[in-house]
Amino acid sequence: MKVSKQLLLLLFLLTFSGVTVAFDNKGLLKSYDHFIGPTPKTGEQRSFELTAKMSELSIGKGKPTKVWAYNNQIPGPVLRVKRGDNLNIAFKNELPEATTIHWHGIRVPNEMDGVPNVTQKPIQPGEQFKYEFKALDSGTFWFHPHVRSHEQVERGLYGILIVESPEDPVYDQEWVWILDDWLLTPEGNIEDSFSVSDMNVEGRLGNLITINGMEQPNYEAKAGERIRIRVINTSNARNFQLDFKGMVSKIFAVDGNITGRPLPNESFEIAPGNRVDVDLTIPNDIAKTSNEHVFEVANLFFHREADETILPGPQTVAKIKVSGKVEQKKNFAIPTNDRVPVWKTAMDAPLFHTYNFDTKFNWGMLLGGGPSVHFVIDGNVYGEHEVKNLQYREFYRIRFTNATGLYHPIHIHGVFFKVLSRGGEKVNEPFFRDTALLDYDSSLEIGVIPVDLGKWLLHCHLLEHSALGMMTLIEVKK
Ligand code: C2O
Ligand code: CU
Repeated sequence: MKVSKQLLLLLFLLTFSGVTVAFDNKGLLKSYDHFIGPTPKTGEQRSFELTAKMSELSIGKGKPTKVWAYNNQIPGPVLRVKRGDNLNIAFKNELPEATTIHWHGIRVPNEMDGVPNVTQKPIQPGEQFKYEFKALDSGTFWFHPHVRSHEQVERGLYGILIVESPEDPVYDQEWVWILDDWLLTPEGNIEDSFSVSDMNVEGRLGNLITINGMEQPNYEAKAGERIRIRVINTSNARNFQLDFKGMVSKIFAVDGNITGRPLPNESFEIAPGNRVDVDLTIPNDIAKTSNEHVFEVANLFFHREADETILPGPQTVAKIKVSGKVEQKKNFAIPTNDRVPVWKTAMDAPLFHTYNFDTKFNWGMLLGGGPSVHFVIDGNVYGEHEVKNLQYREFYRIRFTNATGLYHPIHIHGVFFKVLSRGGEKVNEPFFRDTALLDYDSSLEIGVIPVDLGKWLLHCHLLEHSALGMMTLIEVKK
């Protein structure tokens, strides 16, 4: 057959004119730049000191427990800075083993990311390390070790980083709620089974849920008060869904980022690593009926545990005692961010890669080597993958599939991403995040534009899974 010049020209035009490719990289990038905003130029120099060491502190209502802690406190220190500030953190390791600090969710220069043998050498016992970075984004962040995190975080090593913005509204009260889940022995000690061979496939689910190290703490408020709660899930494996029964509450920030619209609390899954900021209003009319009223905040995630024997029902995690009435009601609107793009065309982008989260039986174990099961990404454990390259300031659509009957909170260092679909269904989450829960037997697609160079971890934030291999690396290059 003779192909005419016209036909060839037509084919050429169809292929390269964009008719077949509806997706628009430049537009997505522009909207992301608008979302991130310009790099803050102002800012103070802020210095902090952190020391990791063994301590004995009381957790819950119990007796003193041997823990590992930053600056001798559980929960760890709350570092509070302003957007644009330059942080200088002098860290000292007084633990009996090596460690690092990872700044979860906050964008830092790659060499400050705290990933052992990738971005820095592990900090040995007795050694010091200086972490220095600028707080580019405002919001609620946290920090924790990235060396044997399943044990170091579980023993109590974590702290909070709050970056304030001049646009933050002034609430009547602000509470920081650090959620944790401890596995304690009847004597009140941390259950000592941290070796990979005794790990439960669902991760380490505890028998004591705490907020700021306390079991069912009591908070005090007045009727009509408007309260900001910064919630951080620092547990190894437990998910939360908070129900502020009888009160008016909305989530207005996820993983530090103000959302495009307020979101309901009861259905939001706070996976290990996730943070949410809650706008809470104490009802105004309760003071009329009695002079004191106690509201309860419960975790609703129980019904989604695979092993329901561990948690028999919704669990009260905090109590809010209300007495008296606020003098002047705060009437500002719940904060929203109108710079969060919809990314309508994102699903038309070519698929960059499908990461398959799975488990693999370790036959070598029969000969006495290692754990019986590996947690793998694309069939391989951490260290066996080829590093995947991503081009700086390009849009990527990435899929995650789950071949296990287990949850996997997917966390990527160095980026904010947007969830585009769940279980094959398109979703429109009005926010960016750094950790998303991959449901069992399901899939997840995300859109991401890396704007920070270097090698970044992509891993399961269920810390037992990452310890058993569920981590891999991406590299952002120009
Ligand atoms: Cu919160 Cu790689 O970690
Ligand atoms: Cu996992």
